[in-house]
Amino acid sequence: MDVTRDIAATRRALAIPRARGDRIGLVPTMGALHAGHIELLATACQACDFSVATIFVNPTQFAADEDLAAYPRTPEQDYDVCRAAGIDLVFQPTAAEMYRPDASTTVTVAGLDRHLCGPHRPGHFVGVATVVAKLFQIVQPDAAYFGRKDYQQLAIIRRMVRDLDMPVDVVGCPTVREADGLALSSRNVYLSDEHRRQAAVIPAALRAVAERIAAGQTGVPDLTTLLADTLRSRGPLEIDYASIVDPDTLQPLETVAGPVVVAAAVRIGQTRLIDNLEVDPPATGD
Ligand code: PAF
Repeated sequence: MDVTRDIAATRRALAIPRARGDRIGLVPTMGALHAGHIELLATACQACDFSVATIFVNPTQFAADEDLAAYPRTPEQDYDVCRAAGIDLVFQPTAAEMYRPDASTTVTVAGLDRHLCGPHRPGHFVGVATVVAKLFQIVQPDAAYFGRKDYQQLAIIRRMVRDLDMPVDVVGCPTVREADGLALSSRNVYLSDEHRRQAAVIPAALRAVAERIAAGQTGVPDLTTLLADTLRSRGPLEIDYASIVDPDTLQPLETVAGPVVVAAAVRIGQTRLIDNLEVDPPATGD
């Protein structure tokens, strides 16, 4: 497994597999790799002839008051994880390599960032879309792999790829969960033992709503009340949002009349956690 730090070396390393006609897979990450990332890496390695992982804590997707400096960085462990998964190349650039001091081009996927995390993290999705567009330009993958836990990020990347005619298959991979249902996240390491126990309420609350939808309940106001009440049931936390939204537009819904995404973002102590479930209502039979 090669590790490259600059764009020119990355392009050189990719010239050979590309000339061979290899299917090239890309797994963009910010490192601190966990079992959720391993799922992405393994899926890429299985589906592609040559697989690239990127490790880059992208400063432009963090607001000034967010955890850029504290974000976990575990490069040596990450290389081992990538190697074990079968990754062929790790691209681990510096911020200076990725962004010229006078860089003035960004990618905005308008509309989809108005909901869910968008209002709580101004500028975040412009940072994500821009860095992912740059990674697509550098690696030129045939397919790229993202976790469904970051549902809004996945929706925004899919829309960017569609609107800008990028020749990349965007693959959404299932959320990997701990035994108690907590979605794996690099930020889980911030949780104290007590907060970690409390965090299990997030998947439990999402499941409680999914069960009601499966039982035929359609009124979103009551379902979101259930979601928020359940989230608060195991101790104090701050809810950024507890929402039921359309899977394509991410618009909040009034009624469940088709597939929906039940999504929540909460702050437990200093840690912000997000999760979602994609839910299909029961068939009506008409
Ligand atoms: O999901 C992440 O880890 C990041 O948002 C991504 C896609 C690697 C872009 O920096």
